[in-house]
Amino acid sequence: MDSYKLLITGGIPLMGETYVSGGKNTSVAVIPATLLSDDPCTIENLPDIEDVRVLVDILRGLGAKVEYDPRARRMTVDPRKVTAFHVPYKQSQRMRASYYLLGALLGRCGQAEVGYPGGCTIGNRPVDQHLKAFRALGAEVEDRGAMLSAKGKMVGAGVFFDKITVGGTINAMLAAAKAEGNTILYNAAKEPHIVDLANFLNSMGAKVKGAGTDTIRITGKAHLHGSTYTVIPDQIETGTLMIAAAATRGDVLIRGCIPTHMEALSAKLLEMGVQVSDMDDAIRVRTVRGHRAVNIKTQEYPGFPTDLQQPMSALLTMANGDSIVIETIFESRFKHLNEMQRMGARVRILDQTAIIEGVSELYGAPVTATDLRAGAALVVAGLMAKGTTEIYEPGFIERGYEHIEEKLRSLGADIRREPV
Ligand code: EPZ
Repeated sequence: MDSYKLLITGGIPLMGETYVSGGKNTSVAVIPATLLSDDPCTIENLPDIEDVRVLVDILRGLGAKVEYDPRARRMTVDPRKVTAFHVPYKQSQRMRASYYLLGALLGRCGQAEVGYPGGCTIGNRPVDQHLKAFRALGAEVEDRGAMLSAKGKMVGAGVFFDKITVGGTINAMLAAAKAEGNTILYNAAKEPHIVDLANFLNSMGAKVKGAGTDTIRITGKAHLHGSTYTVIPDQIETGTLMIAAAATRGDVLIRGCIPTHMEALSAKLLEMGVQVSDMDDAIRVRTVRGHRAVNIKTQEYPGFPTDLQQPMSALLTMANGDSIVIETIFESRFKHLNEMQRMGARVRILDQTAIIEGVSELYGAPVTATDLRAGAALVVAGLMAKGTTEIYEPGFIERGYEHIEEKLRSLGADIRREPV
């Protein structure tokens, strides 16, 4: 149970400017990749979030020298003294992306023992495709329930993913970067953070081509050198801020983002009647009329991101008409809707489909965050609702959004913490 709750008094239009932090899902892939280098690497623009801090502990536990300055958003990792390859369960359980240490350690030394990952309870989240890739590259893999162990010299191979998987694609890239020979990943994920990882690996002297398409070709390199790299801004934080601006009928300029990463969301907001204006590295979102109901179907990138389904469904609770939301990526990603029903939302859920009937008002109520993006959705709903919403277990939100309370307060939101 978190020691504090969030209190939000809604109905205030968000106005002004804010900025986007570095990407969570890219950072948690790039940081483990530093283990593939023969020399120190420096990563810039890292978000000051729990998941990054967990990785600092894990890398130090492996013997890496890590200097991390959260305020400067900079981390330098010196992997030269890393000889260990075991990540204990109590550490790996603290986040989902701990499983990237499997690919990074296999790529570094041909051996890895990593406790099962944690992460948001949004579905079964198997890792069979990760293990399939490791085996194809020459590893013997053992799934011991709480621990995953893999051992073997990495040799380039073809890997056809039975299912498009972001984590599986990233783990295969990490394991293949220093393999002997060429690897081709077929049916690969195309998310922006896959491209960001490829760019980081290439800045270390790796040879990764085709990232961002469904076929990634990797020529293994025996040695990778140090690099200084700046991770891309967070696509999902950008989208969450866009949705919050629309939800409060505000007028917000979001700086430091990449508009082309936001096209699926921008198109949906425009369809609702929200004004979205793209600039080079900023997006302005404002509302001048009521919101039309729209239908959402989550898809792998460049489709509508599953991570924005939850905040978006909060926005849809007050649209004019019925919206249909189909979640195709995870089996259990509608829990936030049950919480919002306590705020007056009208929702019917049938398997992977939610029908959201627009209402004219939401009311503040006590609600509980069940995962990171559910927490974000409840913040959006709280910003929309009349009266005060109490959000319990807000720690989930801290995992993926840097200083989100300060950012929203700087836009005029009435959001504060209170001890529980
Ligand atoms: C990453 O999770 C993200 N997490 C998720 O963001 C994001 O929702 C997801 O990609 C999809 O974009 C991180 O990057 C740390 P997947 P991941 O492997 O890698 C199934 C957030 O809120 N699958 O693309 O776990 C899986 O069950 C988090 O920031 C297999 O069946 O997602 C799911 O149904 C939540 N076998 C689908 O594929 C496998 O071996 C997509 O999963 C792997 C995945």
